[in-house]
Amino acid sequence: MNRLFIGFALVLSGVAAAQVAAPERISSTATRPIYADLSRPLEERVEDALSRMSISEKLHIIHAQSKFSSRGVPRLGIPDLWTDDGPHGVRPDVLWDEWEQAGQSNDSCVAFPALTCLAACWDPGIARLYGESLGEEARYRGKSVLLGPGINIYRTPLNGRNFEYLGEDPFLASEMAVSYIQGLQSRGVAACVKHYALNNNEVNRHTTNVVIDDRTLYEIYLPAFKAAVERGGAWSLMGAYNLLGDEHLCHNDRMLNGILKNEWGFDGAVISDWGGCHDTRQAIANGLDLEFGSWTDGLANGASNAYNNYYLADPYLKLIESGEVSTDELDDKARRVLRLIMRTAMDPSYGYGSLCSEAHYDAARRIGDDGIVLLRNEKNVLPIRSREGGKILVVGENAIKMMTVGGGSSSLKAQREVSPLEGIRKAAEGRGMSVDYARGYVGDVSGEYNGVVTGQNLSDSRTPAQLIAEAVEKARDADYVIFVGGLNKSPGQDCEDSDRESLDLPYAQDDVIAALVKANRNLAVVNISGNAVAMPWVKDVPAIVQAWFLGSEAGNSIADVLFGDVNPSGKLPFTFPAKLSDSPAHAMGAYPGVKRDDSPIVDLEYKEGLLVGYRWHDTRKIRPLFSFGHGLSYTDFRLGKASADRRQIADNDSITFTVDVTNTGRRAGAEVVQLYISDPDCSVERPAKELKAFRKVWLQPGETKSVSLTVGRDALSYFDAERHEWVAEPGDFTAHIGTSSDKISSSVKFNLTR
Ligand code: BGC
Repeated sequence: MNRLFIGFALVLSGVAAAQVAAPERISSTATRPIYADLSRPLEERVEDALSRMSISEKLHIIHAQSKFSSRGVPRLGIPDLWTDDGPHGVRPDVLWDEWEQAGQSNDSCVAFPALTCLAACWDPGIARLYGESLGEEARYRGKSVLLGPGINIYRTPLNGRNFEYLGEDPFLASEMAVSYIQGLQSRGVAACVKHYALNNNEVNRHTTNVVIDDRTLYEIYLPAFKAAVERGGAWSLMGAYNLLGDEHLCHNDRMLNGILKNEWGFDGAVISDWGGCHDTRQAIANGLDLEFGSWTDGLANGASNAYNNYYLADPYLKLIESGEVSTDELDDKARRVLRLIMRTAMDPSYGYGSLCSEAHYDAARRIGDDGIVLLRNEKNVLPIRSREGGKILVVGENAIKMMTVGGGSSSLKAQREVSPLEGIRKAAEGRGMSVDYARGYVGDVSGEYNGVVTGQNLSDSRTPAQLIAEAVEKARDADYVIFVGGLNKSPGQDCEDSDRESLDLPYAQDDVIAALVKANRNLAVVNISGNAVAMPWVKDVPAIVQAWFLGSEAGNSIADVLFGDVNPSGKLPFTFPAKLSDSPAHAMGAYPGVKRDDSPIVDLEYKEGLLVGYRWHDTRKIRPLFSFGHGLSYTDFRLGKASADRRQIADNDSITFTVDVTNTGRRAGAEVVQLYISDPDCSVERPAKELKAFRKVWLQPGETKSVSLTVGRDALSYFDAERHEWVAEPGDFTAHIGTSSDKISSSVKFNLTR
């Protein structure tokens, strides 16, 4: 094509796109327009671009033009905006208009561990590494918005999407989310923090109307979103499918205009969840900026080529033309979307990113290594002691099943995935040991999601009795037995759009474990899940490891911990209840809600209020199976007596607690010092204690480090709904310092003066 022709073609397409506006001609000698001049302040550039756009161009940029992209302003050279899931890797491309795979050969990725594993690292530095690595992958793939992180609070162990979130505690989730977002955005890719808010189960996700008191909303379900916006500086945020106050959260006036934009000053774009927009007038008025996925539920097929019919497309134009709505809201939405484009796709200073680099695999392995939690280790069964000629038996479907495919929108096309069996085999053989395998049970042999196939044939026609008999026979002859089971990414397990039906392990895995217990005392159970599971055999199994969905490097990380190349340091980001009825939402009969007689709406009252997770177990004195913050190591740590730098603090002061941590064992390792606050004399009921600070410290054998944790007024406050403000009530407080919510080594009293 010669230059003249290109110029002609550009002018033509510009006319088509702009409809009424004159095409911009930028001659090579002209100075750059303000909006394209990177040296000018962002707001000036945004206003300049906005001033050049026609109404139809503004409308074009606020709704989708394909499954995952929205249009830029071709006439002005403002690029399209490409989004993609999220949150554990960059999802493979689908066709323009359909959910089917585009069939690219360059869209595989590194699968990072699921966010539950990241939360279990209790280390914001690792969250930063996660965000940076993922951002580089997204940037390389030309994606400007990564649909994550998911930061909904873990309210019930049945929620099919808990694996995509950061656990049950608002403070832990806030700290990890902020670093993830900052890491991601440091690579020129916007985080799209989701799902704002109260999307805490999947069943009835489009029709659940959450009923919640303001105090619980502000103290439990909003802090991580607030931190993501105010401290993380998130450039976009996704509304949730469900409703609050009978209004869908993708266009909820109070949540979007009131809290997000006015109270927190969010200047980014609110993106609808796919198919989460339901009404043009509400979408215009109630704070939605960018509409995606209408006429789909995010998973199923949607109508093709329907983009002009989107709520924020032609129906919006009609209301403007008839004079029923002004263009004020349109300008605000377009401004926010322009900001998003300029912060990402239109900023070349971030470079091109990188994909499937060894550095990213190393990051994935590091995150997995640091997040695996050693739940139990009686008689130091782990780590496996190397012995030339030693025999290891691996049992269980999850030792061989690819877990990066499935689970809903977080499903990935991983360039490579090391299974637990492969990882264990490699580590064992390197030590002169042999590995045998027995299936043990047959769970879900499917291996396809959204057109991506694992290519694994997992079918096995043997009966459960035959499978157990084989495993038991082989177990008798082994030095170690490693059972690798848990949940998987199929509907009804750790999977979007459905919840689990019970806390139990599926596929009668308990029977296999019970049989193995009798056959070999050197047994370790590796549970792969993003959720708590019941463990009726807990006292009989000497070693239990919580291994999450670990992505590309799964097998290597698991082997690192089992063989002791890595000393486990992960801590649970949520409570494992002993039984489902011990878990707050279920104890209160507050799940999954009550369907209204006259409509599809299901009212779900969060009756447990503030008492989510350990707050419930501690306050109600219900002993969990494993508590929040729990996690063992191959070495031992001793915490000295904690001290405070003052006994009394005034309203705006902070107080610092210091404690010595000593590694008293023989291996290097890491401990997480956790600080919980309680306010026993408060005039309102408060949870027994709440996490307000933590620090992960790495120590050589014999080494002692002094750890200081500082908290301020915000850590002492509760939300007074009537006054609509945070209140720190003068009086006595106690700081509890320990290594899990049920392992407090010292408590320090202090006083907040009037
Ligand atoms: C999910 C979102 C996801 C979107 C796009 C929806 O169904 O709820 O988390 O980002 O689809 O795939």
